Amino acid sequence: MTSGPKSISEKVEKYDKAVKAFTGRTPEDIEIDTGISPDVLFPEGKKILYIGDPFQVMGRHYDNSDFTTIDYEYGESAQFVFDEEKFRVEIDREADCVMDDIINEINNQRLYEEHELILEEVFPLVEKAFNKTQEAPFVHDDPKNYQEKYSKIVKLWKEARNHIGSVRYDLRQKIRAFDTQHVLNVDDMGEEMYYKDFKRTLDNIWYTALRAEKGFEDVPDFYKHIWFPLWLEIQEEEIKAGEKYSDEERMEQIKKRIRPYADNIRLKKKTKESNVIQAVFPELPFKDNSHDRIVASWSLSTHVFDKLSEEEFETCWDEIMRVLKKDGEAYIFPLYYRGFQDKTTMIDSLNEYLKSHPDFEYKLLDGYVEEMPDEEVDMSSTLLIKKKV
Ligand SMILES: C[S@@+](CC[C@H](N)C(=O)[O-])C[C@H]1O[C@@H](n2cnc3c(N)ncnc32)[C@H](O)[C@@H]1O
Repeated sequence: MTSGPKSISEKVEKYDKAVKAFTGRTPEDIEIDTGISPDVLFPEGKKILYIGDPFQVMGRHYDNSDFTTIDYEYGESAQFVFDEEKFRVEIDREADCVMDDIINEINNQRLYEEHELILEEVFPLVEKAFNKTQEAPFVHDDPKNYQEKYSKIVKLWKEARNHIGSVRYDLRQKIRAFDTQHVLNVDDMGEEMYYKDFKRTLDNIWYTALRAEKGFEDVPDFYKHIWFPLWLEIQEEEIKAGEKYSDEERMEQIKKRIRPYADNIRLKKKTKESNVIQAVFPELPFKDNSHDRIVASWSLSTHVFDKLSEEEFETCWDEIMRVLKKDGEAYIFPLYYRGFQDKTTMIDSLNEYLKSHPDFEYKLLDGYVEEMPDEEVDMSSTLLIKKKV
């Protein structure tokens, strides 16, 4: 059996790690993505299952016991950084690119003056953090002082990120205003693209700052709370078994066992009333007919669906139909994600499934909630699955 829930979950965790984004869309953001009103996606008094939200942003918005967030990795556990060498190479390269981008943006003079000023304010913050990052010792080069040095770097990247964060918020408001106009003239469209472009530049800097901040927080914790206890644990096993691992085998063992240790120090529930559960779709820890809505924003369609065979898709539809109540609906978006290019397998499996499941219905919706034919799946935004009475 290679198409069962377990194999899909393993696949998801393996691939997903590499491309995980630290996002947390609000109901308004989702309305911009899909055209669907939050009242339709998250109706009051209904049991809602929200798939994939590491920082539980939606669960904090709808903070009641009917709302459940699942993610296999949430809180500060998300994408825990333990490989210092790899992290340092990546962050140096990334931060270097970001600095180049800022300089190019300022120099090519296509920006509005106010945005040029924003970048001129951001640049020294990033530059300071970048210089300290480059000067930082590796843990093993300065075992006594690295913690203090790392926490200074974390502080500098945090300052840069917070500064960019407030500017990004204002830009989002501006872009939202474009999106709600719907009918645009050509000038407006150019203006909208310009704003989106500029926001993307800031998004890149923001993500780099976040990754740097997280990495320099995680690495010390890895050595203190994970590497050392794991080393002892493995040593004890070796003594018991009367055998020794090679260095490589020991490192393999450590890597395999990091997760529960990292979760122990990082998994954090951030909501008061709504539930947060560590789980992977399609291995849902819920009873049959238990939810009125399943909503997957930038999770299943962007992290999972591009990797599935027709049989694996069938497993997904089975799980959705099992957990939905009668009349229940699942909303999965965005389908237009550039990493999900070939949607033929998904469409074929939906049609196959339809043939043998009379209670199953699906629709493709565009960004204005108009129904789209299968052939126009590339222009669609949302896959809506209904469990009919
Ligand atoms: C890009 S974030 C999207 C967050 C939020 N929903 C939003 O729209 O901003 C995707 C999250 O989905 C989670 N995820 C991806 N596939 C999943 C699956 N099969 N089951 C549970 N969580 C999953 C990832 O761990 C990640 O935290």
